Amino acid sequence: MSAPRLLVRDLAQLATPAGRDAPLRGAALGTVDVLEDAYVLCAGDTIEAVGRMRDLLPLDGDVVEVDGRGRCAIPGLVDCHTHAAFGGDRVEEFSLRAGGAGYEELHARGGGILSTVRATRAAAEDGLRTAVERHRGWMLAQGTTTFESKSGYGLDHDTELASLRAVRDAGGVPTWLGAHAVPPEFEGDADGYLDFALTEVLLEAAHIAEAADVFLERGAFDAVQARRYLEACRDAGLALRLHGDQFTEAGAIPLAVELGARSVDHLEATGDDGVRALAASGVVGVVLPASALFLGRPMPPARALADAGAAVALATDFNPGSAFCESLPLCCSLAATQLKLAPAEALAACTVNAAHVLGRADRLGRLAPGYRADVVLLDAPDWRYLAYHLAGQLVAGVVLAGELR
Ligand code: NIG
Ligand code: FE
Repeated sequence: MSAPRLLVRDLAQLATPAGRDAPLRGAALGTVDVLEDAYVLCAGDTIEAVGRMRDLLPLDGDVVEVDGRGRCAIPGLVDCHTHAAFGGDRVEEFSLRAGGAGYEELHARGGGILSTVRATRAAAEDGLRTAVERHRGWMLAQGTTTFESKSGYGLDHDTELASLRAVRDAGGVPTWLGAHAVPPEFEGDADGYLDFALTEVLLEAAHIAEAADVFLERGAFDAVQARRYLEACRDAGLALRLHGDQFTEAGAIPLAVELGARSVDHLEATGDDGVRALAASGVVGVVLPASALFLGRPMPPARALADAGAAVALATDFNPGSAFCESLPLCCSLAATQLKLAPAEALAACTVNAAHVLGRADRLGRLAPGYRADVVLLDAPDWRYLAYHLAGQLVAGVVLAGELR
């Protein structure tokens, strides 16, 4: 006997990025199919059909029905850039920054990322598992059905691998951010630290992680070091990502394009040449407006990127220091109000394009037959409330792989 199907019926609207391609760019980035008075039918963990109520044929067998009246369905949100594997918090630093202290200055004094490294090492594997599960719960409550998370707060053999396992076992997509900062035992010796990471950690990390990431920035790793790290990771079978152009343009976009990286993320400091280079490439530009907001930094040039034809994705950057924010709906509001992206562009950026960054666009990011049955039910009469209702109580329900949560 097969499991009952799940029918979400009488939806005010169902909205999904159109077509089947990924990543979306240009006019396609802003093309959303909207059905009024709609349903979505899930069989197991897969979407069987979507359509208008008037076209719904009688269903045989067991069907569990969910009342969608007054609600809109959108695809489960995909957060393609988070740092969820950390111990402790940075509320003290946040208070200092609120009083005027600088983020990079705190980092240079051994605070910032390095203070989270201390707390993360102290948390050990059990503490990390608990933390990642907790953060995953926060994300799910905001409509995130797939999350990526980086390591990068361990920076030693055991804690990096424990971070990656904690992410994987919580159902996340693990990325090895082995080059996030130079840990205290290698202070002043970034190359020595990379020697250690690439000889002692890489091979085991590559068994757990799907991608590698590097923080290419003054005070972290330069372009020569980033290239060495990424080439070794690529040779070990990992996809490549970069934190680039957060504070300065230090060569992240040319390196990403040359190495065929999946994405360059941040881009707050990206100028016109970078916009053009990214638009002409297959590399996705991941914008993180909550991070720019949280640090009081300029917003990334998302409108210019989209207009130039770049593939743009939108993510939270959830982490304890620069973006203590797990809400993709809030990021959609920031995308509309600060980045000048249309709600349709924001939706595609945190669904299908984010799924592409994670190598999963064939199954995730759309409400269409054959895609995984990940659905967010918005308490709204129009799906664009996703961006319009600033920090509202918007998520009324989530279907995760066919199960109502
Ligand atoms: O993406 N910029 C580098 N890494 C993180 C922040 C890490 C932290 O402050 O703990 C980011 O913003
Ligand atoms: Fe980040």
